[in-house]
Amino acid sequence: MKIKWNAADMSNLEGRTAVITGASSGIGYEIALQLAAHHAHVVLASRNQGRTEQVARQIATMLPEASIEAQVLDLANLASIRRFAETFSQRHQGLDILVNNAGIAGGPRRQTIDGFEMHFQVNYLGHFALVGLLLPSLCSRAGSRVVTTSSTIASQGKIDFDDLQAERTYKWIRAYAQSKLANLLFAFELDRRCQAVGGGMSSLSVHPGVARTNLLTGKESDWGRPRRGTEILIRVLQIVLAHPAARGALPALYQATDPSARSAEYIGISEGIGGGYPVVSKVPPAALDHVTAQHLWNVSEELTGARYDLLTQATGSACSIEPLG
Ligand SMILES: NC(=O)c1ccc[n+]([C@@H]2O[C@H](COP(=O)([O-])OP(=O)(O)OC[C@H]3O[C@@H](n4cnc5c(N)ncnc54)[C@H](OP(=O)(O)O)[C@@H]3O)[C@@H](O)[C@H]2O)c1
Repeated sequence: MKIKWNAADMSNLEGRTAVITGASSGIGYEIALQLAAHHAHVVLASRNQGRTEQVARQIATMLPEASIEAQVLDLANLASIRRFAETFSQRHQGLDILVNNAGIAGGPRRQTIDGFEMHFQVNYLGHFALVGLLLPSLCSRAGSRVVTTSSTIASQGKIDFDDLQAERTYKWIRAYAQSKLANLLFAFELDRRCQAVGGGMSSLSVHPGVARTNLLTGKESDWGRPRRGTEILIRVLQIVLAHPAARGALPALYQATDPSARSAEYIGISEGIGGGYPVVSKVPPAALDHVTAQHLWNVSEELTGARYDLLTQATGSACSIEPLG
């Protein structure tokens, strides 16, 4: 990887189509902005139609040449994920880049309309279903990439198959860590399955370090904002400790676009003075456990009904395409 890789190193993405989940705020917004600036057609996928359309207008004002659209995707609702995938495949001939970025952290235990714990579905299970449903679009493009966002907290995560939905004991940090470990287990398992069919589709993983976003301050529509004092404290700590969201977007931009990206590498961001650039990060050992990954995959197929049939076909399937980089 080039030292101090940044958005200026991105190539021209004309003709490529990209979907970014959670593009209405923070890191997702910055990823979308840079992909649009480099001439990809960008689909902003977020739950709030008004906010997502406003972001699309904002990017179009900054980049009048940008090719951009807003499409509602609520990862806390499997029906919404299915609608998104259907509309996407009707409107588009293929998908080159999918960034699984959307995420939540915090609050009391909440359940989605589908009956799953909120962190587990929004951060992980919803993305599992989304990739499965978009697989035909991904497989129809040579060298397509799925980039999944985890967190350094994944190293503290544990997949509790006996209480996946945290019904017995709930702590938001535990639910968040589990979902972020699940993101990594999924990213590596998806890549192994892609390689097994001999296809060129790749699954890559990233974490954004500590970035200044809305993640910990909540939204009115979620579990209610933290108390005013707590929110101010979070904001002050973010100014001192965190890098801007645009920096947090660099690992995903690198993995989504750079020819030297490697799916075995987990890309994070260098910290400290002179830091803020993509670097190879240590993969938490638990994320490399193939048995857990396969079990989680089977459970996730069952819970979501998503099928990855294209990846179970023999070599030479529709998903057999050009290798990455
Ligand atoms: N910031 C950090 O320091 C940090 C560290 C490690 C990992 N991460 C990860 O980075 C990713 C981006 O987070 P961020 O920091 O940029 O936070 P953010 O500013 O809060 O952005 C999160 C995005 O996810 C969207 N979202 C939330 N619930 C959704 C749902 N049900 N369906 C679809 N979209 C939904 C949000 O939409 P709304 O605008 O409607 O809320 C927003 O666009 C997350 O996966 C997070 O876990 C962040």
